[in-house]
Formats: sequence, structure tokens, C-alpha cells
Amino acid sequence: PGLVVLISGRGSNLRALAEAIRQGRLRATLAAVISNRADAPGLNFATEQGIPTHVVSHVGLSRAEHSAALLEVIRPYNPRFICLAGFMRLLAPSFIQAFLHRVVNIHPSLLPAFPGLDAQRQALDYGVKVSGCTVHLVDEELDHGPIVMQSAVPVLDDDTPETLATRILAAEHKTYPAAIERLLYEPWTLEGRRVVFQSAQG
Ligand code: GRF
Repeated sequence: PGLVVLISGRGSNLRALAEAIRQGRLRATLAAVISNRADAPGLNFATEQGIPTHVVSHVGLSRAEHSAALLEVIRPYNPRFICLAGFMRLLAPSFIQAFLHRVVNIHPSLLPAFPGLDAQRQALDYGVKVSGCTVHLVDEELDHGPIVMQSAVPVLDDDTPETLATRILAAEHKTYPAAIERLLYEPWTLEGRRVVFQSAQG
């Protein structure tokens, strides 16, 4: 099954997905990588790997127009999932509907705590002792859709936003490929907001 990955920057989660595929932990292919920014370092990695890349700039476009442009580029790949990996634009409701329950995001907090920008700083400012990352299905609200998988990490007394982000990022790199592998290969249903896996092990 093919994945299309949407990025805006560094692309370390994209690399983690590629590495998991290489190691056979994620049985999927990277069909394409799309960035809204031409200078996203993650695009260079994708090109090196021989993955088709596209830049779909948001500049001068409304959210609806940008989402329509993305849709047009993505559609021919007919991906099983669209993985948002540090993609810093909101998608229009029409896009979410077109790929219902097929758009997945990773966020650097234990949602519903600390949605939005600067989640690691939000966690430090709040004073939580545990944070982590969340993989979730994307709905029309920011960092809000049904949760697929979460991993927790400790928050240490001497953490800065950067040291906490580094610890969470290591968790992200394990959790994102594992979550996509599960979504692909374990039957699951949505019960209200709950993603329920029906694995034999329970
Ligand atoms: C990650 O922390 C991710 O959770 C958030 O943006 C960051 C992207 O990092 N949505 P990278 O581009 O995957 O390195």
C-alpha cells in the first residue's frame, strides 16, 4: 500500500517512515512526498531516495484553493494513507472528506493536551511531568481527530523546549511507523472517537 507524505520542513518523521520500510517494520511504499515549501530539507532526502516529490505552495492561495491543489497532485497516487509529518498548513474540510479516515498526523504532545504550535513549550509552561506524542486521524479541527497511538516520555526538571522536543522526537520516530503499520494491517473500526483495533491478541 502506498503512502503520500506531506511535509513543510526537516522531514525527520519522513526519514523514520522510510527507515521503517527499509527494515520491514512498515510494510508500505512511499508513493510521493509533497511539501508546501520548496526549501523543505525533507524534499532533498526524498529525492535522494528516488521518491517522487512535488511542491504545492500555499502562497497566495486560500486554504480551500491550496487543499484543492494538493488533492489534484495526490489523487493519481491513490494512497492508502496520507501522512502529515511536520506539515504546517491546515487542510480544508473538502480535502478531509475526500480522504475520510485516510489522513494521519503526528503531534508532539499527549493530546488533547497542548494542541497547536509549540506543544513542547506549552507542556513545560504548564508543568506536566509526562508528555509524549500522538498519532491521530485528521478531522476538521486542529490536532483533534481520533487517536491511533500515543507514547509517553518523562519531562525532566532541567528540560528546555529543545531537550524535551528531542526526547519526544525519538518517541515520534518509533510511534509513527508503528501506528501506520497497525492501521494498514490490523482491522480497526471507529466507535465514536475511539479507534478500536480487533487484533487476535486483543
Ligand atoms: C514533529 O515534532 C511533529 O510531531 C510536528 O512537527 C515536527 C516535524 O518534525 N508535527 P520533522 O519535520 O518530521 O522532523
